[in-house]
Amino acid sequence: MKTKIFKDYEELSTNTANEILAVVQSNPMAMLCLASGDTPRLAYMLAAKRAKEGNIDFSRCTFVALDEWMGIPPANEGSCQFFLRRYLFDPLNIPERNINFFNAVSSDPDEECKKMNDVIARKGGIDLMIVGIGMNGHIGFNEPGQAFDQYAHVVDLDETSRTVAQKYFRESTQLSKGLTLGLRHMLEAKKVLLIASGLKKAEIIEKTMGEEISPKIPSTSIRNHPNGYVMLDKEAASLLSAKSM
Ligand code: PGA
Repeated sequence: MKTKIFKDYEELSTNTANEILAVVQSNPMAMLCLASGDTPRLAYMLAAKRAKEGNIDFSRCTFVALDEWMGIPPANEGSCQFFLRRYLFDPLNIPERNINFFNAVSSDPDEECKKMNDVIARKGGIDLMIVGIGMNGHIGFNEPGQAFDQYAHVVDLDETSRTVAQKYFRESTQLSKGLTLGLRHMLEAKKVLLIASGLKKAEIIEKTMGEEISPKIPSTSIRNHPNGYVMLDKEAASLLSAKSM
């Protein structure tokens, strides 16, 4: 794992967008797994803009969503699906057959997890995975305590995640469970970028880099990834000492 520190959110986003474009240019059939959330928003907007300007063809890539709030339909603006369609898939006109989401309103969530595991396995794994980090160190919805060797699964959301997530919804929304790819998907991905921005993430980034690698802080798992990058703006990196980078 390597750490990269950028001047600010704009520079972090530009570099994240560059990574997305580079993987698609070098492998037009790539499988990408993309997080939703405030952090990657600008990177996706920049990637979509530059792909259109430069005629970079995303039509043969496969996309797999990282997670979804159980019970929240895709038309809800707070859903992960709504976010990815708005900022990336719609602007790029990605063919529907190439997009894989968890169906959050399915009567069989375990089957949804199996479906995602199968899609990823059939493609031979994820080429580029972009994840954010929760205030509690979650990756996707892999909350503290979840094992590193799991593929997709249903989770009980942590109190921190349920509270922080209200920022995505117009109205106060009852959230209790989530569907998520597992940390094993991340550890098996060919390349992973964990991106974080702002002072509010500084403390969990310090723990991610400095504390023992363990399910207590799921984000520490990225330190086991040979091609994992922790990409930060200066504020998110502000509590790191030279030794932990
Ligand atoms: P954020 O979410 O990008 O909105 O901060 C990150 C996460 O919870 O994984």
